Amino acid sequence: MAQKKILITGVTRGLGFAMTKAFIEQGHHVAGAGRSKKQIAQLSAEFPDHAFSVADIADDASVERWKENVLDTVGVPDVVVNNAGVIHANAALWDVPPDEFSRVIDVNIKGVFHVIRQFCPPMIDNGGGVIVNFSSTWGRSVSAQVAPYCASKFAVEGLTKALAEDLPSSMTTVALNPGVIHTEMLESCFGAQAAQCMKPEEWVKAAVPKILGITQSDNGASLSV
Ligand SMILES: NC(=O)c1ccc[n+]([C@@H]2O[C@H](COP(=O)([O-])OP(=O)(O)OC[C@H]3O[C@@H](n4cnc5c(N)ncnc54)[C@H](OP(=O)(O)O)[C@@H]3O)[C@@H](O)[C@H]2O)c1
Repeated sequence: MAQKKILITGVTRGLGFAMTKAFIEQGHHVAGAGRSKKQIAQLSAEFPDHAFSVADIADDASVERWKENVLDTVGVPDVVVNNAGVIHANAALWDVPPDEFSRVIDVNIKGVFHVIRQFCPPMIDNGGGVIVNFSSTWGRSVSAQVAPYCASKFAVEGLTKALAEDLPSSMTTVALNPGVIHTEMLESCFGAQAAQCMKPEEWVKAAVPKILGITQSDNGASLSV
């Protein structure tokens, strides 16, 4: 497969970190971002031929600065992976503090919007590409104690289907449910049971071919790893 320029949010740990390593191992060029300065510095040292930046997707100005840097140093991405996300502490909806609810919305919905807003126009001008928005089982079904997270991932599903209608035929967008994988996020909602789930290094063996295999006929689809 030809080398692709792959933009990933949330590369500092979990699924984003595992995808970064796997895409690089397969010869692709990665531009990644996260908020943790230490982790971004470590990634930059480990993979000096790739581009890692500190950026907060909840902040449109931060994403705009990241975009300018990526376009200058890497070029227009072929694939955007909107992976970064957060979850709140398990709680019945009425017990969720308003600032935690806002944080979930700001990152999981508005963050995806900011990345699309900044990177979609240059991708269209460049001849097209693929935008993958990370959803969840909790974007298609629900459980107790995670209502704000469910609301945010149902929104990602709707946003993706509507975006698919906006896009020209050169562009494709999908919502991708990654499955259930042992990360810090899963520990937050599953507790000790999270350790029984698949590790990110195993998960990428199916996830990376799934992402690279997305075609225009998938536009607007709800896919799963
Ligand atoms: N793990 C699962 O089983 C599972 C299941 C369904 C869906 N998902 C989805 O898969 C995605 C990845 O989840 P994960 O399990 O890998 O989570 P994770 O281990 O908690 O990692 C989340 C990543 O997102 C980054 N991030 C959070 N807020 C950010 C912000 N404002 N700006 C930039 N980066 C930000 C974090 O980096 P910094 O803290 O450095 O910013 C980190 O790299 C999420 O969208 C999640 O909802 C995961």
